[in-house]
Amino acid sequence: MSKDQFVVALDIGSSKISCVVANLDGSRISVIGAHTGESKGIKSGVVNNIDKAVSSINDVINKAEMMSGQAISRVVVTISGTHIESLNSRGVVAVSGQNSEINADDISRVNDAAQALSLPSSREIVHVLPREYVVDRQKGISDPSGMTGIRLEVEANIIHGSTTAIKNLVKCVQQIGIEVDQLAYSGLSSAEAVLTDTEKELGTILIDIGGGTMDLIIYSSGRPAYSAVLPIGGQDITNDLAIGLRALLEDAEKVKVRLSDYEEFSSKAVIIDKNGREAKIPKGELYVGDLNFGMDSVPISVLNEIIYKRLEEAFKFVKIYVKKAGFADKLPAGVVLTGGTSMIPGIENIAEDIFRLPVRVGKPSGIIGLADQIQTPSHSAVIGALKYVSSTIQESGRTNGRRNGTIMGINERIKSFFKSFLP
Ligand SMILES: Nc1ncnc2c1ncn2[C@@H]1O[C@H](COP(=O)(O)OP(=O)(O)OP(=O)(O)O)[C@@H](O)[C@H]1O
Ligand SMILES: [Mg+2]
Repeated sequence: MSKDQFVVALDIGSSKISCVVANLDGSRISVIGAHTGESKGIKSGVVNNIDKAVSSINDVINKAEMMSGQAISRVVVTISGTHIESLNSRGVVAVSGQNSEINADDISRVNDAAQALSLPSSREIVHVLPREYVVDRQKGISDPSGMTGIRLEVEANIIHGSTTAIKNLVKCVQQIGIEVDQLAYSGLSSAEAVLTDTEKELGTILIDIGGGTMDLIIYSSGRPAYSAVLPIGGQDITNDLAIGLRALLEDAEKVKVRLSDYEEFSSKAVIIDKNGREAKIPKGELYVGDLNFGMDSVPISVLNEIIYKRLEEAFKFVKIYVKKAGFADKLPAGVVLTGGTSMIPGIENIAEDIFRLPVRVGKPSGIIGLADQIQTPSHSAVIGALKYVSSTIQESGRTNGRRNGTIMGINERIKSFFKSFLP
């Protein structure tokens, strides 16, 4: 009989905080509770006011506990911010197992060897993501366990971040009496929720465009190859609209979100024309009569122009990063957009104009239970964090079934990592 594991993911974004409570049974992720609330004290993905951040995290956790009927004591937390960077590293060890058979200990040692980097003390490793193993001269091995060889090498993508930013994030969660079991880069998490295996294999870039950041992750040959975070998001578009329309920020935000179903708003609205008669909103205009604009409607073309300019600039920045990372001609599966800002209508066309690649908007999938409200692009990172934990547990379960030690290995590493944050 299978035994469920209770797992909680917490996504602390610049616009919202989401907590999803789930039971894992193998690869089945069954959501039993979720809550999303306003985020305060977070700017461009990083804590900038501990008290405000703690209070908003606490509120979201309390509501998620109430909804799920479960007390939350440990969470996996997503991490973002421009301090996140990645690099590729190699590790080499001699195979120690009996009959030169590669075992979990060899794999753990070679992954550790890949981490032996000379990172400054201000940097902390968040993920060690093996890209391929090489056994003697045989390349392209995804899982070398059980193979025979003398020399085991790994090429790994290492995602690292600022020690201070990581400490402050962990501290906010610990202050409400909750332990951080694991950190997951939000770009990696979103990719887990949104990308197909084919996209990962062929080469693709995932861009999670949230409120304050664009989390980038490039996959090639099935594995993460490059990550970076840019400090641009939907809040910049809202600011531009507020300036362009001389509107309050909260009205500009409403206008931006309203564009997703402008027909609904504009077709139902009835206005009074200059002859005092009831009239419809002219075609191509968005109804704003209920906001503080002093007019009934604004041309959608004007809004689109403002939005286009900001997104064009943002995607051009991404293109520079992709080129610098050496992937300019290596993304045949194109671009996948997710995050709240990917809900802007027509965003695919803007991205296609800039990247000249196929573009799609990705929604998170692969969960059951109370999934309805959270299967939106805004929740890709929190759902992906659950999928990431689930695959980590399955991976260690598989390895542990063959031989002892791997679960301990992972748990010990996570424990020792977080020990460094304890007072
Ligand atoms: N329908 C919509 N149309 C346009 N923008 C939208 C829509 N819904 C949400 N957004 C925007 O999405 C952004 C929030 O996205 P998301 O929830 O992914 O951010 P976050 O995870 O809190 O932030 P970040 O990841 O940048 O730290 C906000 O700027 C919001 O205005
Ligand atoms: Mg986000």
